[in-house]
Amino acid sequence: MSRLFEPYKLRDLTLRNRVVVSPMCQYSAVDGSPNDWHRVHLGSRAIGGAGLVIAEATAVEARGRISPGDTGLYRDEHIAAWAPITRFIREAGAVAGIQLAHAGRKASCALPWDGGLGITPEQGGWAPIVAPSALAFDDSSITPRALAASELPDLIASFALAAQRALAAGFELIEIHGAHGYLLHEFLSPLSNQRSDDCGGSFDNRIRLTLDVIAAVRAVWPERLPLLLRISATDWADSGGWDIEQSIELARRVKPLGVDLIDVSSGGNLPKVKIPVGPGYQVPLSARIRREASIATGAVGMITEALQAQGIIEAGDADLVLLARELLRDPYWPMHAAKQLGAEIKAPLQYGRAW
Ligand SMILES: Cc1cc2nc3c(=O)[nH]c(=O)nc-3n(C[C@H](O)[C@H](O)[C@H](O)COP(=O)(O)O)c2cc1C
Repeated sequence: MSRLFEPYKLRDLTLRNRVVVSPMCQYSAVDGSPNDWHRVHLGSRAIGGAGLVIAEATAVEARGRISPGDTGLYRDEHIAAWAPITRFIREAGAVAGIQLAHAGRKASCALPWDGGLGITPEQGGWAPIVAPSALAFDDSSITPRALAASELPDLIASFALAAQRALAAGFELIEIHGAHGYLLHEFLSPLSNQRSDDCGGSFDNRIRLTLDVIAAVRAVWPERLPLLLRISATDWADSGGWDIEQSIELARRVKPLGVDLIDVSSGGNLPKVKIPVGPGYQVPLSARIRREASIATGAVGMITEALQAQGIIEAGDADLVLLARELLRDPYWPMHAAKQLGAEIKAPLQYGRAW
């Protein structure tokens, strides 16, 4: 039996294998509502055999969207738009998960194919955008307004409300987006958080918002269903940034709050850092968190080969592997990988004659 294609249990859910569709923005929603594009995009990856399909960074507040094309769960109307998508994913044998996000200082940007730069309300964006401190991401970015301490309870509540809507829409797994330089990561890193209240300064203060969001989501998310946290395990800064040591400590702190697995990414908070990109380059970060914080992890980043993915699981470097771009190139990657590894994988009945 191939380890990659062994089922994996997370609370009361059993994933049919360890291959996960990594969350990927499609920039194709209208006013937060997903549509046929999302149904076909996510649905075809469920048909392709992945165990878990995590829908893209989905905003918990309208102003927390990266772009006007981001999906949302900030209004009750979004529930009905997501419901047929989760139903289809489940009927195709995969678990439907969703990433809950707030873009912080990286909100209100043009669609990537329109340049991706910050846009004003006149250009179809919105203002102000908010962050821990009034520090722009880079020279060409819009400067955010620093959130007042009195605004944080509403922000935390918006994550919990979105989680309740996710449940109503049929999602069975939530991933909180604490990575890639978006709001929660901005609070974690001393390079983007220069607050002087109890959410800035010390490590305990910088992680406070993330812990509060997790606790609020866990309070409304059923015990039987899993909660994941995606982090950037390092800013890749030479000094003074968020790093792997802090990530390990954060992982230790979130486990008792009910986080079941850390999805280990990196970077995204600083414009000018050298990232040692290459096959599996973030896997060592996952391996350290898994071993040193004794928590399940997912590895992501330039995982493209069946043997490579299986090796990560066999080495104990991660419990799940997440693929993004390779699954855009080939939604049937899990089926091809299973064949290569000699694993049994059930094709959809409709496709049986081909496999
Ligand atoms: C089109 C696209 C959209 C993405 N959107 C998200 C997102 O919504 N949330 C997130 O955490 N990462 C996002 N990512 C990052 C991926 O989930 C993944 O971490 C990254 O692409 C590295 O994996 P890969 O080498 O397999 O592509 C996106 C990547 C791509 C290519």
